[in-house]
Amino acid sequence: MTYQAIAIDGPAASGKSTLARSLAERLGIVMVNSGAMYRAVTWKLLENGTDTTDPAAVIEQLGKMKIVCGHDGTFSTITIDGYDPAEHLRSSEINANVSRVSAIPQVRDKLVAMQRDYLKSTHVVMEGRDIGSVVFPETPYKIYIDADPSVRNSRRSDDGEVDSVEKRDAADSSRKTAPLKVADGATVLDTSKHSIEGVTEAAIEILRNQGFPLPEKPSYVIPEEATGGKMMRWIYWLGWLSFGAAYRTFFGLRIIGDENLIKAGPVLIASNHQSFLDPPLIGNLYKDEMVFFARKTLFKGPAKWVYPQWNAIPVDQDRPDMSSMKTVIRKLKEGWRVLVFPEGQRTLNGEIGEAAPGVGLIAAKAGVPIQPVRIYGADEALPRGSGKIRFARITVKVGPPIVLSPEEFKAYSGKEGYEALTNRIMDAIKAL
Ligand code: CDP
Repeated sequence: MTYQAIAIDGPAASGKSTLARSLAERLGIVMVNSGAMYRAVTWKLLENGTDTTDPAAVIEQLGKMKIVCGHDGTFSTITIDGYDPAEHLRSSEINANVSRVSAIPQVRDKLVAMQRDYLKSTHVVMEGRDIGSVVFPETPYKIYIDADPSVRNSRRSDDGEVDSVEKRDAADSSRKTAPLKVADGATVLDTSKHSIEGVTEAAIEILRNQGFPLPEKPSYVIPEEATGGKMMRWIYWLGWLSFGAAYRTFFGLRIIGDENLIKAGPVLIASNHQSFLDPPLIGNLYKDEMVFFARKTLFKGPAKWVYPQWNAIPVDQDRPDMSSMKTVIRKLKEGWRVLVFPEGQRTLNGEIGEAAPGVGLIAAKAGVPIQPVRIYGADEALPRGSGKIRFARITVKVGPPIVLSPEEFKAYSGKEGYEALTNRIMDAIKAL
């Protein structure tokens, strides 16, 4: 699969991050803040007491840094030597030093390579100074945003930051390597007088004109006679409420693609599986009851009573037999919304594993819409094999439903057909 990059460039405090963030959420792709990478390197140099006016010293230190860039499903992340410096990156010292550090070609070479690496695994909207000109010169999707200097200065001081915007702009625009400029093919957007929504709308329009494949609105129409999930009984509601509140408080739960969610009628929800937190996480996407499956061995002690109250049906994980698959199909035919984890077990490393063939069979036999969902961060919040909760951000991305006609379902029959449908579902999850 080839991945696309949207490049957003512009001077300091022009609103790049705000726009990139809202585009990322709107389009369901990853936002990469390249400035944070230059800031992180500058932070590490200042931590080490390196003289940032001495390029040779900077280059030497840079060689020793272990920089790891990634993302949490929506936003880029960075660690240096295993430490995440996010909370330090907007200090006045960094504001005063970052332009000097980022003018050093060796710094740029290293970070630009890491920025390009994102496209190996995901679509991105990346913001910075040279994204359209140097990092992704080939992308057709380029926006240069600007705003009056007075507006930009007051945005910074409104954020409570000490930052000499003009000084940084002058340094960034006049440097030899990758200076800030309007990239070839970029459309200029002035954000001085617009609200965030206004800027996002204008940017979407620009992307449309540049030919960006904007996601279609979900085409699924909820049938009139759909019964939906069942109204919550108090015990289900109690679990739903407690888990929901905990997720929002501890894990800053973010849901992306809510508009794709089929909220009524039978749906087969297929999600990747990261942790024990997953089932209630999915349950919280809806405002009525649904059906889950859980390992038979978990039904002991108080869980033996409460799990069935939460519509969890025991399955024998060691022998995923025909009878548990039949139960799933029956529940779907009864009109329930049912969650399955096609991988069958929790991930060990955060990656999506191989799917067991069952989900394709279930989907083909039940003939109901399939809702692909991808969870990010739950493996860090409660890693497999650890009983300890950690404060990690959890994101749930809901993909457009796969809605097939009865004929299309029929075409997915037999072992090969089930396998093909399983692959289709897994690809839809992976694409999120
Ligand atoms: O948020 P703001 O626009 O103030 O700055 P930023 O995007 O965090 O970038 C901080 C600094 O990193 C800039 O002033 C540039 O010196 C440098 N930078 C760069 O050289 N190239 C990029 N692609 C992004 C940032």
